[in-house]
Amino acid sequence: MNGPGQDRPRPAPLNPTAAGLAPSKIVEVWQMGFDVENLIALFVGEGDEPTPAFISDAAARALADGRTFYTPKRGIPELRRALSDYLSRHFGAAVDAERITVTSSGMNAIMLTLQAVLAPGTSLVAPTPVWPNVLSAAEIAGGHVKTVPMTVLPEGGFKLDLDRLFDACDETARALFIVSPSNPTGWVISREEQEAVLAFCRRRGLWLIADEVYHRFVFDPARFPAGVAPSFLEIAEADDPLVVVNSFSKAWCMTGWRQGWLVHPPALGDILGNLIEYNTSGGQSFLQAGCLAALSEGEPFVESLVARCGQAAEMVFQQLASLPRVSLARPAASFYAFFRVDGIDDSLAFAKRILAETGVGLAPGSAFGAAGEGHLRLCFAGSPAHLAAGLDRLRPVLS
Ligand SMILES: Cc1ncc(COP(=O)(O)O)c(C=O)c1O
Repeated sequence: MNGPGQDRPRPAPLNPTAAGLAPSKIVEVWQMGFDVENLIALFVGEGDEPTPAFISDAAARALADGRTFYTPKRGIPELRRALSDYLSRHFGAAVDAERITVTSSGMNAIMLTLQAVLAPGTSLVAPTPVWPNVLSAAEIAGGHVKTVPMTVLPEGGFKLDLDRLFDACDETARALFIVSPSNPTGWVISREEQEAVLAFCRRRGLWLIADEVYHRFVFDPARFPAGVAPSFLEIAEADDPLVVVNSFSKAWCMTGWRQGWLVHPPALGDILGNLIEYNTSGGQSFLQAGCLAALSEGEPFVESLVARCGQAAEMVFQQLASLPRVSLARPAASFYAFFRVDGIDDSLAFAKRILAETGVGLAPGSAFGAAGEGHLRLCFAGSPAHLAAGLDRLRPVLS
């Protein structure tokens, strides 16, 4: 008798890109946190509170009402119309619902866009530090990635060198990926920079993929009087080569729902619809009912969440900046502090040590590209008590 598995032919080789994927370094530390008692999780991009009840109740009602069938691939029409209203309310930009596609998360919105735009032999150009999932998604979609490190400013913070960015766009380039407000740095692209990037993409026929997932998280009313980060939607024409990625995860505390959306030129609608058909075959109508409630009733909630994050940004800045080994810029947007720690040249090992010694989860800066080495990322989206407890535990190890 042969033992189990003996004489069995070896399975066919896997897709080398899939087989070669490594877990993100954020996830590597996050997974170590599963076994940590009294964990204070500041490593991933979410707070410690559940989705507000008015959103969950709307989804539960839709489920109880039997909204359990297949949905239109690009989202239920009421939600696409509500997104159109939301965008015109906040950005003053008329975005027809025909240009809006609901997706199964912001991550899925990124993947669908990259599947639409990239092909073997082509590349995506992205400034770093950047949320690493974008780069792996580009490789899965068949493209290469060219990263352009942002300049680290002596006073803390980062600056985008546009000439360097444009120089990286060789003949293989198909798209530029700009995340603003940035995860992890909180950097926000200026209107002038947006105009230069859009003009370059128009001139070169490149796709501009703008990730505006953190558009609500801006903390300086003098700099952002409209209460939102500047959007490419405010300066682009409907048929510009622009795709804007967005998500319900952050502003409405809906990370576990996996709901997002895209704004794109009308001509991309059918292509995205086909890609959705063959990826997920559409979203869940009862969850989309929750998204509708988020848009129609969620403004007071979003405003109080953003105000609280603004206070948290200040508290984190004051406390971290008072530590002699730590340097950082005052976080102006998104909900992360991205800080440098003197003497640290392996941020992954340091994040693991901090987790083991203090029970606080932070993301290693190297996860966001070489430009992030020597840094750690702390998410301040959680409740004040959660954050204060985390900072108390961190002080000795960062001093
Ligand atoms: C910059 C950025 N884009 C997109 C996403 C995706 O968000 P989600 O997939 O939760 O909608 C995230 C999540 O952290 C992010 O940080």
